[in-house]
Amino acid sequence: MRDAAPTTIHLKDYTPFGYLVDEVHLTFDLAPDATRVTSRIAFRPNPEAPGHRFFLHGEELRLIRAAIDGAEVTPEITDAGLTCAAPDTPFVWEAEVEIAPAANTALEGLYLSNGMYCTQCEAEGFRKITYYPDRPDVMSTFTVRINGTHPVLLSNGNPVDSGEGFAEWHDPWPKPAYLFALVAGDLVAHSDRFTTVSGREVDLNLWVRPGDEDKCAFGMEALKKSMRWDEEVYGREYDLDVFNIVAVDDFNMGAMENKGLNIFNSAAVLASPETSTDDNFERIEAIIAHEYFHNWTGNRITCRDWFQLCLKEGLTVFRDAQFTSDLRSAPVKRIRDVIDLRGRQFPEDQGPLSHPVRPESFQEINNFYTATVYEKGAEVIGMLKRLVGDAAYAEALDLYFARHDGQACTIEDWLKVFEDVTGRDLAQFKHWYSQAGTPRLTVEEAWQDGTFTLTLSQDTPATPGQPDKLPQVIPVAVGLLNPNGDEVHATEVLELTQARQSFSFEGLAARPVASVLRDFSAPVVLDHDLSPEQRAFLLAHDTDPFNRWEAGRSLAGQCLLDMIIEGTAPDTAYLDGLVAVLRDDGLDPAYRALMLGLPSQSELAASLQQRGLTPDPQAIWDATETLRQATAQHMQDLLPRLRAEAQVDAPFRPDADQAGRRALGSATLALLSRLDGGAQAAADFTRADNMSLQLSSLSCLLKAGKGEVELAAFYDQWRGDRLVIDKWFGLQVAMAAPGQTAETARRLSAHAEFNWRNPNRFRAVFGALAMHHAGFHHASGAAYQLLADWLIRLDPVNPQTTARMCAAFQTWRRYDEGRQALIGAQLDRILAQPNLSRDTTEMLTRIRG
Ligand code: PHE
Ligand code: ZN
Repeated sequence: MRDAAPTTIHLKDYTPFGYLVDEVHLTFDLAPDATRVTSRIAFRPNPEAPGHRFFLHGEELRLIRAAIDGAEVTPEITDAGLTCAAPDTPFVWEAEVEIAPAANTALEGLYLSNGMYCTQCEAEGFRKITYYPDRPDVMSTFTVRINGTHPVLLSNGNPVDSGEGFAEWHDPWPKPAYLFALVAGDLVAHSDRFTTVSGREVDLNLWVRPGDEDKCAFGMEALKKSMRWDEEVYGREYDLDVFNIVAVDDFNMGAMENKGLNIFNSAAVLASPETSTDDNFERIEAIIAHEYFHNWTGNRITCRDWFQLCLKEGLTVFRDAQFTSDLRSAPVKRIRDVIDLRGRQFPEDQGPLSHPVRPESFQEINNFYTATVYEKGAEVIGMLKRLVGDAAYAEALDLYFARHDGQACTIEDWLKVFEDVTGRDLAQFKHWYSQAGTPRLTVEEAWQDGTFTLTLSQDTPATPGQPDKLPQVIPVAVGLLNPNGDEVHATEVLELTQARQSFSFEGLAARPVASVLRDFSAPVVLDHDLSPEQRAFLLAHDTDPFNRWEAGRSLAGQCLLDMIIEGTAPDTAYLDGLVAVLRDDGLDPAYRALMLGLPSQSELAASLQQRGLTPDPQAIWDATETLRQATAQHMQDLLPRLRAEAQVDAPFRPDADQAGRRALGSATLALLSRLDGGAQAAADFTRADNMSLQLSSLSCLLKAGKGEVELAAFYDQWRGDRLVIDKWFGLQVAMAAPGQTAETARRLSAHAEFNWRNPNRFRAVFGALAMHHAGFHHASGAAYQLLADWLIRLDPVNPQTTARMCAAFQTWRRYDEGRQALIGAQLDRILAQPNLSRDTTEMLTRIRG
């Protein structure tokens, strides 16, 4: 499909487009195999980029007719687009092209999902719809006419006209083509209204397939909360008469912020207590907020080029995290985000796919919608806010919106508003955008004559293309505790700017215990050599909820590493400390549930690698199992009490309070099931009236090697609900024993309902396989081979989803030679496929190294 020599695009090569676009008119005549797209576009030469040739992107289009100012032209056409002689005065371009949405399985451009037309244009999908300068710095208003027989015909902006077989939309806000959207189908709306702070009445619609009406209420409430929150916290008001959200079943990502017409993966918006877990509810609320917040951070102010992706994504992730912290529990959200960062971003940053938050080159931009751009990008904004303070942050954001509304911006523009507001030089801070890799922060302590000194040093390992790193500005939030547990020095943010730097605290009566990197104030690996007693002390007394949790986490981690490396028995300092925290009913149940978590097995593998050891996935699995079993026994007497505290008596609500109780209940049930062989889980499954309990009890049964009957009952109950059946697929893989994981995935992939062209279903099975550390890395290599087989099969159909799944192999160099040989052979086998997509080729080439 693609040419053999892929081209690399560089940030430093940016040049503006030679023409400005004043207006775009599009007409769609919808038909599954031959949709006609007619465009009329007003161009004029760009005074800032004179003399450029007139090139329009276009891929997989059949050009029928093109004209400039009404006179037919014959452009020169390649795989990538067309070039045409054009006047150096304003002119009107017209083109008619034909496309085939029914044949579009890549889910980029205009495609069909269950008979419904929809589009996905970010990042470079618009060029599969018509010829256009498909780059984010070209912004224009759009008027769209859709001719089609479907009852619902939607596009961006406000409705201007509609009638039998057509609808017309106008979007008055200039936007880049990646924010274009069109939907046509047999849809029903869950509708509501919102009055903005200045009194604008907005019609809100959540469009779904008939049958899904009962899964809309929660998403709609989340939307209204998001709209209010952005007014109150960021002073941002909505700017159109309607806001439409559409749920589609076939979607590569979570959701998309198209102007006035957000398109969502159904899994990221449809929710009901019977079918959605508490985690689903929280995630849906956050994604709705995220896409809505893009209206200002992304749409009104967009990106100059795709290297600036973190400008909109890092900021919008940061904003949606603030929203969730405000609506739910800030410490719980912070801990969950750090777990996620360590689970997804750290492996990326510490392996062959490592890249800066603002990459400097790419072959396929779709491969850079990463945890680094999104989550580390959000951490960078959090650090900036911590360094300048809340008031300056608010002022800088006001200036950003005032100065750049309607523009396509860069990270330089973003940092400049902070420099102008604070007078600070952010040149060194900017390294966070350009240097890849996770800095390692080492803490040394000294105590003399009432003075406590912390010496902090930083070191960022080499990453692909970046052998040497400069010191970064690292905000290190620190507090000090007295030996009696009182805080003697409240949280202070130390600014580490050098490779090594000391900070002293004077006039102390006794040597304190330092709580370092409170609230996880920077995305670094912390190396603070504390004794188990000191960690247990922090677990008992730290006033910073994040670091209190972190103390338990690191105790557990140290205990597991000792078990793996030395073969020791589980450490009672950890178990006793845990029991004490779990007993404290003054602590939020959600927080206590998080306390019961362990470092992931992949994280343990990374820790072993960092100690120069070769991780054995089976040994990590065994140690984790042993510690879990010991925890269950150690907490035996406490479990009934925890279950009682976790009990929810009120009718189901997906709020933080109830969700926290259910999380504690499910963590407790998992421990109990290790003692009673699943008896309680079987009872819970039978009485479950919500998906969280149904799924957690079923998972306990599967873990105990039981649950065959329940699994079948679950399937029968939910066979009509595709999102629940995704869970049914995924759970079986996730709960399989390491020796059974690949075989379970293989068996499920032969199931009649395994529709592998649907990204959600594909990921349910193979995402779960890749996440199962000991199962995926089973010594047989069966899982490597199975995943490779399926990636080979999926690539010609859907390169984007295939390429994303390749990341399953990114940590391969951590493991022993045998496993590396097995994985290497699979990587080579995939790479040897003829016509492998640009997406997958780039990913595998980088991983192969
Ligand atoms: N821009 C979307 C978001 O972050 C993600 C996305 C990217 C969706 C590319 C589809 C394709 O909200
Ligand atoms: Zn986003």
